[in-house]
Amino acid sequence: MPTVLSLETSCDETAVAVVRFEAGHMEILANEVASQIAEHAKWGGVVPEIASRRHVEYLPVLVEKCLRDSGKAIEEMDGVAATVAPGLKGSLMVGSITGRTLAALYSLPFLGIHHLEAHLASVLLSENPPKPPYLVLLVSGGHTELIHVCSENKFHRLGRSHDDAVGEAFDKVARLLGMPYPGGPAIEEIAKDGDPKKFSLPKGRVSRPEGGFYPYDFSFSGLKTAMLRRVQAITAEGGSLPLEDLAASFEQVVAEVLVDRSLCCATDLGLNKLVMVGGVAANKRLRELLASRSAKKDIEIFMAPMPFCTDNAAMVGAAALSRLELGKYSSSLELGVSARWPMDQAEDLYQLPPPF
Ligand code: KG4
Ligand code: ZN
Repeated sequence: MPTVLSLETSCDETAVAVVRFEAGHMEILANEVASQIAEHAKWGGVVPEIASRRHVEYLPVLVEKCLRDSGKAIEEMDGVAATVAPGLKGSLMVGSITGRTLAALYSLPFLGIHHLEAHLASVLLSENPPKPPYLVLLVSGGHTELIHVCSENKFHRLGRSHDDAVGEAFDKVARLLGMPYPGGPAIEEIAKDGDPKKFSLPKGRVSRPEGGFYPYDFSFSGLKTAMLRRVQAITAEGGSLPLEDLAASFEQVVAEVLVDRSLCCATDLGLNKLVMVGGVAANKRLRELLASRSAKKDIEIFMAPMPFCTDNAAMVGAAALSRLELGKYSSSLELGVSARWPMDQAEDLYQLPPPF
């Protein structure tokens, strides 16, 4: 049964996993995530230089631990996978060099993985993974996208954010409300005690030059500004900020926009399966709204298990194993890293000569 060692260092989590494809299922033999969140929180966001340095320190320790926990020797692996794009270049480089070095030393195939393909593969770690075709709502700190998965590893982007990613909007609004980084979990915690209908906030739409709106696209900058104006108005009147209500109203409008546009897209395409992945998919209000509204439309929902929503290496392993299942995918040892790379060109990461 194919087994891979996988590495994830695209942002502020250093993660390693050993994953095996066994009887049609992804089986996690070892999984470690060393979060640097506490250290970056002091600066209100990710400091790229600190992130790269920590990856260098943590990665060898985690590789050793995962191999030990999995009960497997590195020689027993069928491949080594590492995220190579998109992300912070210095951080990606640490995982990529480590992965390529191990692959070269032990004569194993190296698979350079696209970070968003890994997020999509996180749903394969659930009990009941979907079979294509399906629509994916990908909501992370860097991306908000609607992706049509037509067949295994064939992706077509149908919608995107024109400004902030939804996770970024959570992080910026949290900072505005005086909450720590990362903003998503902080807003979620305080919003539990708030009234989600207290403030009426805009559902950003993106206009088409020829008139009307792009039906599946997103914009969160207007919502962010509306939050700022609310905060300024309340402060100018000398009132104390109703943090719970502000957080709950923000979370509610974001959840409604994401759910409604995803369901509209799925319905228009005649797709009856909808998948949600990415860090923001850990949000409970969003998960519940998606589940209740899709049930009314007879659309089946698939979500990544909670621990695999935010960045981890098990999803990188799952993406690599699906590639290996489909054929002899391997990347050049000359493959570098890229801060930006479209997901529908993920196939190029296995081409010769490599694209970057
Ligand atoms: O997927 P991820 O771990 O990293 C990226 O690839 O970007 O996503 C991180 C983002 C952050 O912006 C964080 O605030 C958000 O996911 N996030 C959440 C929650 N947990 C993490 N947003 C809303 N609710 C949550 N519970
Ligand atoms: Zn991510």
